[in-house]
Amino acid sequence: MTQTLSCPRIATRQNGLEMSRIVAGMWRMGDWGMSVEQRIAFIEQCIAMGVTTFDHADIYGNYAVEALFGEALRAKPALRGQMELVSKCGIKLLSPKRPQHSIQHYDTTRAYIVAQAEESLRQLNTDRLDLLLIHRPDPLMNFDEIAEAFTGLKAAGKVLNFGVSNFSRHQFEALDRRIPLATNQVEFSPLHTAPMFDETFDGLQDKGVAPMIWSPLAGGRLFTTTDAAAENLRLVIKEIADRMRQPFASVIFAWILQLPSRPIPLTGSGRIEAIREAVAGTTFTLSRDDWFKVLRAARGHEVA
Ligand SMILES: NC(=O)c1ccc[n+]([C@@H]2O[C@H](COP(=O)([O-])OP(=O)(O)OC[C@H]3O[C@@H](n4cnc5c(N)ncnc54)[C@H](OP(=O)(O)O)[C@@H]3O)[C@@H](O)[C@H]2O)c1
Repeated sequence: MTQTLSCPRIATRQNGLEMSRIVAGMWRMGDWGMSVEQRIAFIEQCIAMGVTTFDHADIYGNYAVEALFGEALRAKPALRGQMELVSKCGIKLLSPKRPQHSIQHYDTTRAYIVAQAEESLRQLNTDRLDLLLIHRPDPLMNFDEIAEAFTGLKAAGKVLNFGVSNFSRHQFEALDRRIPLATNQVEFSPLHTAPMFDETFDGLQDKGVAPMIWSPLAGGRLFTTTDAAAENLRLVIKEIADRMRQPFASVIFAWILQLPSRPIPLTGSGRIEAIREAVAGTTFTLSRDDWFKVLRAARGHEVA
């Protein structure tokens, strides 16, 4: 595969935040066992490929990943100006690092959102987040209060754009009416097709807002699940990949990228070759026949 592969860029909505079409997800960074030099090298290789957007959450790696990334930024401050930083808040984990939490729960109060955004800035060694997401819809969330928290963070220059994650269409639109949102980050893959059928993608397309996609490879289960349906899905994707002379994972990224809501997939790997395969998925499209072959194998039945 060519070394000059370059990831395209996309605005999540008209005149809105621009990010790389493939985003590097940092959830698993704590498992990668990288030294600070290796983290810097990984970030630099992503940026060289045009993958300039990095996705975090306060809780990743049991509240540790932002600091690992921040250590790389402290060692090489020039990297910050070459990237967009995304983080999330709103989940409180049971953790020895948070002994005051007596139950895993959500907190979308104004005070907590502001405090966690400021904590993310400290951990990441930066003065601003390009995008802050509410991690999960909170049954106790008050849309007006979240919008006030976002407005305050924006006025202070601490967060430039806002969004949500795992929100329903209605929840997204309720908050978006109060403050324009950049995205809804949701789970989607051939093993999790719900957003295509529950109005999540249709609602976002209608508003011209691009979704971000987490676990596009089903967290790796696309390679490992052994039931008959998954085996068949793998065979179908492999046949297309072999015929198109593309890597297996690239075909899955291409399949996702082809949706008209303009999805922005996140990678989850610490291997630069896996990031390259994701970016390669931006360079070709599937025929309508092949696209529907993957859908049929994913759902186990024809469309009516
Ligand atoms: N908003 C939310 O609620 C939410 C939830 C979960 C995740 N996220 C975000 O989404 C990002 C991506 O999620 P994910 O990690 O589940 O993504 P994914 O790409 O679906 O899964 C990545 C996993 O698949 C494995 N894998 C096996 N073969 C692979 C191949 N050929 N190419 C690529 N990966 C392969 C990777 O292992 P190797 O490392 O060995 O390649 C890794 O463990 C996370 O980092 C996080 O930023 C958000």
